[in-house]
Amino acid sequence: MSALDYLGEGFSYRQDVLHCEEVELARVAAAVGTPTFVYSSLGILARYRAYDEAFGAAPHQVCYAVKANSNLSVLRLLAEAGSSFDIVSGGELFRVLKAGGAAERVVFSGVGKTAAEIEYALNEGIGCFNCESETELALIDACASRLGKRARCAIRVNPDIDPKTHPYISTGLKDNKFGIDINEVEDVYRRALNLRNVEMAGVSCHIGSQMLDSTPIAEAVDRMIALTESLRALGAPIEHLDFGGGLGIPYRDADRMPSIAATIEGLCARAAKLGLELHVEPGRSITGSAGVLLTRVLNRKTTQAKEFVVIDAAMNDLLRPTLYKAHHEIVPLRRIPAMGYVEADVVGPVCESGDYIAQNRRLANVMPGDTLAVCSAGAYGFVMSSNYNSRPRAAEVLVEGDSFRTVRERETLEDLVRGE
Ligand code: LLP
Repeated sequence: MSALDYLGEGFSYRQDVLHCEEVELARVAAAVGTPTFVYSSLGILARYRAYDEAFGAAPHQVCYAVKANSNLSVLRLLAEAGSSFDIVSGGELFRVLKAGGAAERVVFSGVGKTAAEIEYALNEGIGCFNCESETELALIDACASRLGKRARCAIRVNPDIDPKTHPYISTGLKDNKFGIDINEVEDVYRRALNLRNVEMAGVSCHIGSQMLDSTPIAEAVDRMIALTESLRALGAPIEHLDFGGGLGIPYRDADRMPSIAATIEGLCARAAKLGLELHVEPGRSITGSAGVLLTRVLNRKTTQAKEFVVIDAAMNDLLRPTLYKAHHEIVPLRRIPAMGYVEADVVGPVCESGDYIAQNRRLANVMPGDTLAVCSAGAYGFVMSSNYNSRPRAAEVLVEGDSFRTVRERETLEDLVRGE
């Protein structure tokens, strides 16, 4: 780990010059331009392996949550390392298959699966549907019947636990749209056993994202284990238990990430007596710290009220600060102590006052032309970007040791109007 935890494995200052693995990030900015997302393959694989190895000999699947970063090269890296995948759309399944992932090692979550998506997944031989309602189970049964197939399903449980995170990324509370109320699961599961084209295989849950406190996770594990025991007492077949994703990452120095090893080992110890295959669906904790967003300072602007650093990345490139008031550290590619500091809002060119990457932030006293790295941008960064204000989407680069390659070209102006 770097001394600055928010920089993540794979990123470090060497003689005050920011590197991704062996590559100077200034080289990437010069070759590819800005804004550009840069990912460390070492950082991604280290986190995947931390999960995989923590399970030891216990039967398990680490289902990387594709929504966090769905670049084909990132998925390919993980598929080659042996990862399974958690998807929430037909589009994500398409990406996984294109990247060489195996359909039978894919789980499909989400409250609004369409018949077309379900049939696509069944035709590809998907591993399991995590079903979020009884009506969805009926739809899957009908689709499977139409295709003459059997659909493996798990019930996504809403365990009503507060994950103590941002309300937009809490998913396991009674008021959330996700899953089936834990108190109704026994009845639903029993009825589902009568569906002719559905094979009930397990239960899943996912209570929220960016959890820095592992207490809610432990609570969810205990509730899921108790639920599994009562389902078994009914004679229901249960082959696997899926605990979702949600481990947080350090976005600031003060953030302490729960240990992947300790969390998974705790989970295995608690669940060992059940003798089931265990699944997890981590997204952010695999790719989040393994990426930065490179951006160039366009301008400095001083008003009577404030100081602004205007950069070439905006809310359309990285929406998290605007949407969740999320904090991302912003560091210069070259640390020069004589530079000093400035307290400023770091804003993009989009025509919205909500377009900022940081507010009232003390950062290096950078000048137009300087390049910055916005940290911890490897998850929910590019995937949430848009073309708002007709801004072409950023390029993506993958670093491996001392080499780097563009894994998604920067969009062109022609790309902007394709299909119109
Ligand atoms: N499994 C399911 C069913 C999920 O809904 C999610 C995330 C995950 C796994 C992966 O969770 P993770 O390990 O990444 O926390 N855009 C937000 C995060 C939304 C997360 C949605 N669900 C953000 O930028 O913070």
